[in-house]
Amino acid sequence: MATMQMSVRPEDLSQLPQGAERIPDPGILVIFGASGDLTKRKLLPAYFHLFQANLLPRQFAIVGVARRPLGDAFAADMRAGIVEFGGVEATDPRLDSFVSHISYFPLNFDDPSHYAALKTELDRIAKEKGIGDDRLFYLATAPEFFAGIIENLGAQGMAQSEKGRVAVVIEKPFGHDLDSARELNHQVNAVFQESQVFRIDHYLGKETVQNLLVFRFANGIFEPIWKRNYIDHVQITVAETIGVEGRGPFYEKAGALRDMVQNHMMELLALVALEPPSNFEAESVRREKLKVWQAIPPIPILNAVRGQYGPGIVAGEHVVGYRDENRVNPESGTETYAALRLTIENWRWAGVPFYLRAGKRMKKHATEIGIQFKQPPLLIFNRMALTGPCSEIQPNLLTIRIQPDEGISLRFGAKLPTTPEMTVCPVYMDFDYEAAFGKSSANGYERLLLDAMLGDQTLFAHRDGVETTWALYTPILQAWAGKNPEVFPNYFAGSWGPDCGDRLLEKDGHAWRNDLGRKA
Ligand code: BG6
Repeated sequence: MATMQMSVRPEDLSQLPQGAERIPDPGILVIFGASGDLTKRKLLPAYFHLFQANLLPRQFAIVGVARRPLGDAFAADMRAGIVEFGGVEATDPRLDSFVSHISYFPLNFDDPSHYAALKTELDRIAKEKGIGDDRLFYLATAPEFFAGIIENLGAQGMAQSEKGRVAVVIEKPFGHDLDSARELNHQVNAVFQESQVFRIDHYLGKETVQNLLVFRFANGIFEPIWKRNYIDHVQITVAETIGVEGRGPFYEKAGALRDMVQNHMMELLALVALEPPSNFEAESVRREKLKVWQAIPPIPILNAVRGQYGPGIVAGEHVVGYRDENRVNPESGTETYAALRLTIENWRWAGVPFYLRAGKRMKKHATEIGIQFKQPPLLIFNRMALTGPCSEIQPNLLTIRIQPDEGISLRFGAKLPTTPEMTVCPVYMDFDYEAAFGKSSANGYERLLLDAMLGDQTLFAHRDGVETTWALYTPILQAWAGKNPEVFPNYFAGSWGPDCGDRLLEKDGHAWRNDLGRKA
């Protein structure tokens, strides 16, 4: 096994521009559904990281909004969340100052008079702090409240301002099928202009996901071979070891296809497959992604398979099956695993299968993209070893480890030394993020929050993109909804998923790569 490591010295990093020109104007972040987990685990830790990095304006305010009367307990709870989930020391001297910007406003999402009161409160805070009219409304509630909140913001005149930047961030799920996504788009665009709408997909905040663009378009050597002539097939795996983590009622209505494939995995696929955008502007990047999704023909139902985990052992612990999870129907037909085979019918990709799989309670936690190249046209070396990795000449494989063990590795064949025969063994060149750039406590929301405050939509989903991906998956969801699978549960927790997932690739003479993770 060979490894190659790049490294950047810390002193090099300190020379990087600190992004002074990217500091937003003073404004108020208003989080609806602020008592939920997302705010405490992700949003506020990310916001604090921006504060630590001096990327927030001197004056800002964070207002948590939810139904419960939390009062000052909210800020204290957020402080604890930043420490617990943000990798921040409880004694960090900047914490108190940061927390002093946080307040809470109880609101019944359906009551217009509460929005009038919220408006008064935001104006008061803005005046007190000299903030101006910039507002970022973050919808982190259950999706059924999105439309009502937006309508009320519009009705109170809070969605537009002549003097400041007003924007809305909408968490996933954005709709649950094509019709509902269209309807929601309609409701949103009746109040906000598209340029004010930030449909968030937190995968786009991940450094390794953004690096897909850099890897492809800031390096000269990969692009010429990034096409059907050289690539045999592509595998994208999002394997989680966790189950539904107390989110039973949400997951029952979602399932793996809606929860992971229609959004996160389609973003990964688009970044692997898109044509070079002419620049890194929102319009150009989003147009190229849309072209990829539009080039995917309808997925035959036989090329979409599903699974549900039963009890099993994950990381040495016995875990219950999905149907025994808290607040899950004991006869549930919801899929916790989905796998698909699709193609992209354009000049670059015609005929190249893309295999996607997402599953909960899988054997290993790994999000990886595997690009398998074609074998050389003629293999002049015979296989020499009878067993083991050198028994076959393996094709070149580029793996992009989105998480964990973030990195990229390239497999190639090397001559096994000290043998007189030309025995070819697989070896790996490996780039490891942590070794090169150091450990990061960022969770991906930093970049997205900052971009939303600055009005940069490059890393957010566009209305057309959301509808195109829903159009692709709605027929599958409909077919699945009509037939509750009798075979569920069909995979053990802690395994690599159901047999039907394996058979999907066997038809093409391929197999899932289950040796995920760092090789070196
Ligand atoms: C969320 C899903 O969007 O992404 C969760 O709703 C899933 O079910 C999560 O666990 C995975 O995100 P990450 O960043 O941990 O890969």
